Amino acid sequence: MIFDLNNLKPAEKQYYLQHVVAPRPICFASTIDKDGNVNLSPFSFFNMFSSNPPILIFSPARRVRDNTTKHTLQNVLEVPEVVINIVTYDMVQQVSLSSCEYPENVNEFIKAGFTEEPATLIKPPMVKESKVKMECKIVEVKPLGTEGGAGNLIICEVLRLHIDDSLLDENKKLDQRKINHVARLGGDWYCKVDESNLFHVPKPNTELGIGIDSLPESIRNSKILSGNNLGQLANVSTFPFIDPAFDDLHLKNIIQYFSVNPEEMEKELHWYAKKLLDEGKVTTAWQVLLSGI
Ligand SMILES: Cc1cc2nc3c(=O)[nH]c(=O)nc-3n(C[C@H](O)[C@H](O)[C@H](O)COP(=O)(O)O)c2cc1C
Repeated sequence: MIFDLNNLKPAEKQYYLQHVVAPRPICFASTIDKDGNVNLSPFSFFNMFSSNPPILIFSPARRVRDNTTKHTLQNVLEVPEVVINIVTYDMVQQVSLSSCEYPENVNEFIKAGFTEEPATLIKPPMVKESKVKMECKIVEVKPLGTEGGAGNLIICEVLRLHIDDSLLDENKKLDQRKINHVARLGGDWYCKVDESNLFHVPKPNTELGIGIDSLPESIRNSKILSGNNLGQLANVSTFPFIDPAFDDLHLKNIIQYFSVNPEEMEKELHWYAKKLLDEGKVTTAWQVLLSGI
C-alpha cells in the first residue's frame, strides 16, 4: 500500500507517521512563564541535531483536535529557557500523567509527583528524579505551519549537562546499560532500553569496510546468510586470507563428510558461518567461508 500524505486527514497523517518514525526519545521539558509559573510536559518529537554547538530540538505541535497551542510553546516564547530531563523507565507512568491537559498555571511537577530541583543557570527547575538533565537556552522557535498538527521547532542549546553519578564509571564514562531510556512509538506504545535488548554493531571509524559488492558471488547470493550476516562480513577493511593455522573440528567434519557433494558442503559451511556470525565471530566465520571458496 502506498499512502499519499496529501490525501490523508491530519489525524491519519499523525497516526501513520508516529507508528513508523519510532522509537522516539522523550524530552521532559520544564519551562516557566514570565510570571514564574512552572510547566512540565513530555515531547517525543525530540532529538539531538548537533554536538558542537550542542543543539537539541523538540516540537510542541498544534493540537490536531482543535488547533490550539501548548503551554510549553507559550512559555518558551515568554522565557527562552528550558530544562530537558531525560525519561527513564522508572518514571514513565508519572511522565504520562504529566501530559494531561491541565489548565494553564497548573504545575505538573505537583500533579505528577515530581520534585523541583533548582537549575544552576536558568529559571525553570529540573526534575530531581531524572538521572540526566540539560539546562538549555532557546536559540530559535520555528513554526512549521498554522493548521492542527503543525509542529513548532524549539531549537535549544545545551548549556549544562547533569548526569547522575550512578550512570558513570570511574573514568566518567557512561554505561549505556544503566540509563534505561524509554521511547515513544505509535499510539500508546512505548519501549524500554535495557541490557536484554541492547547490542553492539562494530563500526571501524578510521577504515572502510570492503563492501557487499566485494564479497565473492557465492557468499553474496547465499540463500542462508542474511543481509545482516553479509553486512558483518563486508565490514572487514581488507579481504581476509586463509589462515593456515586455523584449526576447527566442526569445519574439518563438514569438509570430510561432504567432500563428495560440493553443493551440500557449501550449504553446511554457510549454516556454520551464519551461526558464528550470529555469535559475533566474524574472523572465524570468514575462515569457514574461505575454506569453501
Ligand atoms: C510520551 C509523550 C510524548 C509526547 N510527545 C509530544 C510531542 O512530541 N509533541 C506534542 O505536541 N505533544 C506531545 N505529547 C503530548 C503533550 O505532552 C501534551 O499535549 C501536554 O499536555 C502538553 O502540555 P503543555 O500544554 O503543558 O505544554 C506527548 C505526550 C506523551 C505522554
